[in-house]
Amino acid sequence: MPTERDPYDAVAYPGHAYPDTHPDRMAVMGLLHGLEPAAVEHCRVLEIGCGDGANLIPMAYAIPGGEFVGFDLAELPVARGQRRIGELGLANIRLFQADLMDVRGLGQFDYVIANGLYAWVPEAARDRLLAICREHLAPNGLAFVSYNTLPGGHVRNMVREMMFAQADRIEDPAQKVAEALGFLRLMVEARAEGDPFRAVVEHELKRMEQRDPRVVFHDELAGAGRPVSFTEFADHARKNGLQYVSESVLPPPNDPCFQRRIVDKAEEMTAGDRIAEEQVYDFARMRMYRETLLCHREREVSGEMCVEALTRMRLASQAAASDGEGDVLRVFTLPGGIRMESRHRNTVLLMETLIEAWPRSVPFAELMETLGASGVEADGEFFKLLLQLVVARMVELHVWQAPVGGSISERPRASAVLRQEAVAEDHATTLLHAALLLNDPLVREFVLLLDGTRDRAELLAALREKRLDLSDANLAEGIEPTLRMLHRTGVLLGDG
Ligand SMILES: C[S@@+](CC[C@H](N)C(=O)[O-])C[C@H]1O[C@@H](n2cnc3c(N)ncnc32)[C@H](O)[C@@H]1O
Repeated sequence: MPTERDPYDAVAYPGHAYPDTHPDRMAVMGLLHGLEPAAVEHCRVLEIGCGDGANLIPMAYAIPGGEFVGFDLAELPVARGQRRIGELGLANIRLFQADLMDVRGLGQFDYVIANGLYAWVPEAARDRLLAICREHLAPNGLAFVSYNTLPGGHVRNMVREMMFAQADRIEDPAQKVAEALGFLRLMVEARAEGDPFRAVVEHELKRMEQRDPRVVFHDELAGAGRPVSFTEFADHARKNGLQYVSESVLPPPNDPCFQRRIVDKAEEMTAGDRIAEEQVYDFARMRMYRETLLCHREREVSGEMCVEALTRMRLASQAAASDGEGDVLRVFTLPGGIRMESRHRNTVLLMETLIEAWPRSVPFAELMETLGASGVEADGEFFKLLLQLVVARMVELHVWQAPVGGSISERPRASAVLRQEAVAEDHATTLLHAALLLNDPLVREFVLLLDGTRDRAELLAALREKRLDLSDANLAEGIEPTLRMLHRTGVLLGDG
């Protein structure tokens, strides 16, 4: 039964998979910073505040040799997650209800995840959260902790205060959110277009309007949210025997840490203190949110990127290639629309090798063997190019191969986790731990048929039974492109 004390029982938090929390991503960042993270294939993962396990369950499914443990204070989400695990028949994952204040002795984990918790719980729970990380991290373990940060958090606090002023006395969660957002809208409209105050509040309003109202309720209108500066967070980690490794992903290409004059200023102000330097960047970023990786204080973390670690990784690219004009050899475009024009033969060779392999990744040694046949060498220039492509998001780094097929099977089989999610949701988790929008009812029905028992003709026959409103020709011509889309998005399992 829902308990009165727990808002997450009263209003469900729509959990989903967070790609940045995946052990594969954490391991890549660990390697890039000189650490020796555990192999993903056999890793042990703990998630603190796991909600309904929407993040942990797809990981456990895709990494059958791993072991996954999650706990959460709220009973109902945990019960929902346990039901899903039972239906899927997963034996490598366990969820249980517990207060992090009481949790002790769960054993050692290679990866610990605490997403959406640290900045939203009381101080004592923050202390305990970091203590759990310290106590349960294996010697080479990595912990992912997300939190709202400063200086951007000041803006968020200002907006939250306005929302509270209007909605504090309202009990009903949905009405609370609607009234709070309505009030913010009024505050925005009270000011002229172009007014900087209007722009700031409007930006926050838009961000919240795009989110599920239940998320707005929990993240903005419930609990004791307190953003912390990066320096305060790093200090708190240090006091708990942990240290800063990096963020969960590399900074985006437009980050101030890539601007020469900002780098010079940060260096001048901080005399090589990495934490202080990051804080200067956070001022330049007006940063609101962080996803920080921590490790034991005794480990040696490299502040400089360990480029040679790339040789131990797998590379991938989900870009599409097209012809360029003039001296542009090829144009590469990512699914989100980001484009890169290339005039360099080596870039083209590298990108085309990876594009051909997608959705699978290519081990570095194998890549160099292929490129070596065209005279490309793994020299300093090549590593520089590789890093540029990684920062540009054109190339992805991995240490683990998701169980996706290299080609589409005769009897295609979609991830069972994704099929389970697709029954009730219009979004689902791919084997690459990314979200796939399933807002086309026909695609959703099609996905549900992909249990590995049907070939193309049987798929068409099954679809026909479901969709009498559509002609045979219509259904038939959609099958191959939809399968290709599902293959590319990492939905289809490999044979065997
Ligand atoms: C904002 S939600 C995030 C859920 C999930 N980690 C995610 O990112 O979707 C915060 C979660 O932390 C849980 N939580 C809050 N206080 C907790 C505590 N003291 N012990 C364990 N879980 C707690 C809540 O029940 C809730 O499920």
